[in-house]
Amino acid sequence: MQCGYKNLYSGKEDKRGRFQWQDTPPDDLGTVVEDAESAKWALLVRNVKAYNDPRRVLKIHSIVVQSPLLKSLLGEVLQGYPGVTVELDRLEFSGRFEPIIHRWSEFKGKIEELQTPHDANLQSKKDTTTREHAELLQKILVKEFQDVVEVSQDMKAKGVMTFDLLWTLFQPGSLIYTRQENQDRVFKLHSSKYGEDRHGNPVFWLTCKYVDFDGSKFGTIKLNLSIHSYAGTRTITSLSAFPFSFHRNTKELSERLVSRGTKFESLAGSHYKGYNGIGWKQGSFGEKDKYAIKGRVIVDTYGWNRFNANNGVYVAPFTQKEQATSNRNSYDDESPDDDYEGGYDECDGGMPVDGAFADDEEEQKFPPLSTEQKLIATHLVRGYSLKEKLWLNLFVNAIQEVTWSGGAFDSLVLPSKQKELILGFTETQSKHRQTFDDVIEGKGKGIILLLCGPPGVGKTLTAESVAEEMKVPLFMMSAGDLGLDPRNVESKLQSILEMCTRWNAILLLDEADVFLEQRSLHELERNKLVSIFLRILEYYEGIMFLTTNRVNTFDPAFQSRIHISLDYPELSIDSRKTVWKNFLNQTQQENTITDKQLDQLALMNMNGRQIKNVLKTAQLLASRKESPLTHEHVVTVLDVTQHLHNSTMETERARSAIFA
Ligand SMILES: Nc1ncnc2c1ncn2[C@@H]1O[C@H](COP(=O)(O)OP(=O)(O)O)[C@@H](O)[C@H]1O
Ligand SMILES: [Mg+2]
Repeated sequence: MQCGYKNLYSGKEDKRGRFQWQDTPPDDLGTVVEDAESAKWALLVRNVKAYNDPRRVLKIHSIVVQSPLLKSLLGEVLQGYPGVTVELDRLEFSGRFEPIIHRWSEFKGKIEELQTPHDANLQSKKDTTTREHAELLQKILVKEFQDVVEVSQDMKAKGVMTFDLLWTLFQPGSLIYTRQENQDRVFKLHSSKYGEDRHGNPVFWLTCKYVDFDGSKFGTIKLNLSIHSYAGTRTITSLSAFPFSFHRNTKELSERLVSRGTKFESLAGSHYKGYNGIGWKQGSFGEKDKYAIKGRVIVDTYGWNRFNANNGVYVAPFTQKEQATSNRNSYDDESPDDDYEGGYDECDGGMPVDGAFADDEEEQKFPPLSTEQKLIATHLVRGYSLKEKLWLNLFVNAIQEVTWSGGAFDSLVLPSKQKELILGFTETQSKHRQTFDDVIEGKGKGIILLLCGPPGVGKTLTAESVAEEMKVPLFMMSAGDLGLDPRNVESKLQSILEMCTRWNAILLLDEADVFLEQRSLHELERNKLVSIFLRILEYYEGIMFLTTNRVNTFDPAFQSRIHISLDYPELSIDSRKTVWKNFLNQTQQENTITDKQLDQLALMNMNGRQIKNVLKTAQLLASRKESPLTHEHVVTVLDVTQHLHNSTMETERARSAIFA
């Protein structure tokens, strides 16, 4: 075997582009174009035949910058421009020469700088040569793109632009302003190109990036914006998206957006907050289902992804550097590739990078966002509305701090020992959630309290005020919310319990009788419900209140599951008096009701809810007459609602049921 190599050459190609190898070089080889001779020129200009242009036969295909001096000058001009690496041996520009045209004024500025040195004597030969090379490039480009460069510069200066020259306005890496859902948004431009929307209309596509949080990390999401084609010129600020620098009030606006971004950053993780505004979710036909929300919400993107996987939010981590992708786009007028088919609101935030949920580390510390990242942060967070029981997109601006109704627990009228027991038990339990545990992990960390008693005596209020006192969310649920189909019940209940554990919330299952009643031989479906409930209860890790009116038909299996069972008797005379007094003290409205009159009112057999309702009506009556609330008013209402005429327990019981 000889140590060496032999060259083989490709022969003639057939129609399909296949060829035979041969040992002689093909005949029509020609000579190398870029040789020592061409290397001495500062620029190589490659020309191609121009078609479809009656004004010329040749057009520039690309320019190779060979002059090292010019390369370093362009390096300064194009600093930070994504996708251009001036350090390369062969710096090549092609197509529409976007980078240089986007930075045309910087380029011109550099040339002028070289023309007017601070000290004429110091002007080095190097500077002169650099200037000459730069002017050469400028001349070639001006000759070729005169109309584009001049017209675009002129229009920009006047604040207008034509559709055809929109590309000169949008520089990759720059900030873009637009409004979404009536909110100011600023995006970072990734790339742009002409194409079509999904109905085939010509549009200019802007692929933008914004900052979002996906439950485990901050990162970016891409979103396509489009500008529909228009005739003639339009004011830049009237475009549906335009460079942020053209905004009339960049300073004030960026301050506002950065502070919104700061708030957005602080909402990472899960947070119990107040809300007053619109929340929306994606409806089944692509439209937005909107809800007016005034109340408590839990901001929690991890939970959103977990319980709402169809609309999950996933971001690309920041570390994945911009450069990696920005060269990908070509500005040719080819048909739009997949990236652009989506349309205005399409974004790539729908899938986790590797299809798996990231681990949720509660105490995770995130590196702080930069000012620019805050500026381009999303205007939405995801959260759960406790009243509506829905996962919704919430506006960062409408999130508020919770206003705790202090004294809710104080106004609860119960024997003081009972109150102490409830609060003591729940507080210690939530503090030492890890300490009492069953042998099997995840089993038996919870605490379950059963409250039984007639309607209107403060069972629901107990759960509400304990949650308020402990400053944790209260998840209220009744059997009706779960339905009766065992299959649905199980999965619904499971996710609710999981959410409550996650948020350290108190779960209130009101009117839980259906789930607690003794299993019987005949009602198979209901038996299933009870079994499911029993099983799930055992694995629950949070605090749960169950309320019920009937207590005697309990399934015996519950006895071991329930930690405290409290009996709520009908309110005593003393309790009723306190309830009357509390309600009177709570309102701003003046009243002339004496202690003696209160004693009288307390004699009437009413429950807490009835007292509340009667007082509310009496207050309305008084304010209609523009007088302070008097005993008279209360008696009038009692009379009309017939509380005065019945004092026997029997009818009272029936009445309670009606009023409840
Ligand atoms: N023991 C009580 N102490 C203070 N207020 C009460 C009491 N019982 C009832 N109320 C009043 O009646 C309203 C309804 O009570 P609620 O807790 O819903 O009754 P239940 O759940 O037992 O049917 C409460 O919001 C509260 O204003
Ligand atoms: Mg109730």
